[in-house]
This record gives sequence, structure tokens and C-alpha cells, in this order.
Amino acid sequence: MSLTENFPSVDLSHKPTPLELLNNVSAEFDTNVWIKRDDCTGLAFGGNKSRQLEFYIGQALQQGADTLLTTGAVQSNHVRMTVAAARKMGLEVEVQLEHRVEREQPEYHQSGNPYLVKLMGAKIHYYPVGEDEAGADQALEDRAAEIAREGGKAYVIPLSNAHTPYGALGYVDGAEELIGQLNEMQIEPTRFIVPTGSASTHCGFLYGVRACGNHAPVHGVCVRRDAESQKQRVSTKLKAVTEVIGLEIDIPDNDIICDDSMLAPGYGLPGAATVEAIKYLARKEGILLDPTYSGKAFAVLLEMLKRGEFKPDEQLVFLHTGGAASLFAYPELVENA
Ligand SMILES: Cc1ncc(COP(=O)(O)O)c(C=O)c1O
Repeated sequence: MSLTENFPSVDLSHKPTPLELLNNVSAEFDTNVWIKRDDCTGLAFGGNKSRQLEFYIGQALQQGADTLLTTGAVQSNHVRMTVAAARKMGLEVEVQLEHRVEREQPEYHQSGNPYLVKLMGAKIHYYPVGEDEAGADQALEDRAAEIAREGGKAYVIPLSNAHTPYGALGYVDGAEELIGQLNEMQIEPTRFIVPTGSASTHCGFLYGVRACGNHAPVHGVCVRRDAESQKQRVSTKLKAVTEVIGLEIDIPDNDIICDDSMLAPGYGLPGAATVEAIKYLARKEGILLDPTYSGKAFAVLLEMLKRGEFKPDEQLVFLHTGGAASLFAYPELVENA
């Protein structure tokens, strides 16, 4: 029985996503590195957000909404996938792009995710600041009120942590799926590595893994805020998820791991180790990471592998959350390559 089966949801993702061994990486570091391919969920280039959107849109349809509203950075994968999900479900969609990353390059503003958002025909609004979650959400609510006056009914997929985290339910499901695959393959995981931004993935995944009775560390890699603030965010969201699902799982605060060693120089800006990790996995395995999320998470794992932190019998599981559409917004990654 799934913990989320009583919540309304729609089917947006190719599931189960594959669980594969990274043969070349494992051989190089003499250990076992697995990759859960949530970059392959299928919806308009795929990624983790389709699992989250399944529950938001389930709710939206239950409420009779005809329009989706959401917000994110200019290169937000969440925004791109929300537009794709709306199109698949026959809904109208409007998105708000925030000025969150200081990048002048025209590719950042025109290529990758915003290109795809325009291709799928979403109405685009701009929000002039990038560190104002409450303000960005309020702007969506204001627009929803306008749509209501025009006779429509909008559903807001919010950004801030003050809302019921239906999206995290997607990763309670994702964790159950992964633990099922590991059990079937008789693999005992010794560590999971996941990126942590809005924290819906990290929180849902941690809750789901523990609910399945697995106690391997879930190593969250910060992509947006420092470790202390992110830990607080995950903790708050965990309480909300526990309340929504109605099942108390023992997850003490010291079980929430947030590692901000790859955060600098900041959100949406890859440091040298992240660029190296993106090139490494592309050249070693033909797998594409992104500069904002999955590249930073893999960079943490790669640093640990290089430091020789793992024994040959370890089973490391990296959750690939997608995002490679934004590679085209960072042409400097291959300049002089
Ligand atoms: C590719 C990718 N990975 C990871 C994340 C972080 O997931 P979450 O916001 O659930 O923490 C995002 C969020 O936008 C993303 O687009």
C-alpha cells in the first residue's frame, strides 16, 4: 500500500524510472555508484518536478481549476515542467520569472528553459526580485484573484515553505519506488545523495525512505541557502508532510543532513568543482547534469569519492533530478573545452 494513495493525483511521469549502476565511475573509484534516473521522467525533458506536479495538479483538478500559476527563476525547471504538465492536462498556464541570478549572457534569458516555456506557449510575467518568496507567491495570488474576476479559476503552485507541501508527496512515492527496486535487486544502500532547494524532494524522499524502514543517510546538497537555513526548511516541511499524511515517522533533527559545500558562488552559479563534475559525468558515462542542482549534488559525491571515503562494498545511490535543459544557458561550460 502506498502512503499517498488517498491523495488526488494525475499521471505525468514515466515510472518507475530506471536504477542503473554507473559502471565506469564505480570501476574508477572501486565502489558501487548507482543512479536513480529521475531525469528520465519524460515530461518535456523530464526531471524531479513531474513527480511533485502529479499531486499539485491532482488537487487543482479536484478544485475545478482551469489555469495553473507558478513562479521560479528564469532557468527554472519547475516552471518548464509546470507548463508541460498544464498542456498535457489541457489547462491554461501563466508563469512568473524572477530576477534571481545575476547573469547578463543572452543565452541565460533566451535559451534552455525559457525557450521551452515560450515554445509551449505559456503567458509569462516577470518579478523583479529573486529573494522574496512571500512576495512572489503574493503576486501569484493577486493574479489568481484577477483571473477569478475574469471568470476563470486559477490554482497557485506556491514557492514558499508556508504552504501544504503536496509536491513532497511525489517524493514519498519516489522513495517507495526506489526502495522497492533496491530490494528487488538485493542491494543494501549505504548512502543516498539528493539536491535540496525548495526541499520538497529532500523532505518527501527522507520521509519515504524512513517510512520504508531504511536507515541509510540521506545526504542533502544545498543549492539555494546555507546548511543551517536549509535544515530548518526541511524540518518545517517534514512536520507538514507528517501532518498531511497522518503518520508519525521518527526522524530526529540530526537525521537531516544538509551540505552546503557546493553552494558558492550562489544559486544558479556553478563553482569550479561543479563544472568539473558536470564534465566528468558527461565524459565518463554520457549522462547530463545541470549547473544549478544535479551538478552540485554530484560534485559533492565526486569529492567524497576522490577523497577515498567509501569502501569497495558500499552501495551509493545518487538521485538524478534532471535539469540538463539549462545547460544551453551556460555556454561558457564548453568554451575552450
Ligand atoms: C533539476 C532539479 N533538481 C533539484 C531541484 C530541487 O528540488 P526541490 O525544489 O524539491 O528541493 C530542482 C528544483 O527546481 C530542480 O529543478
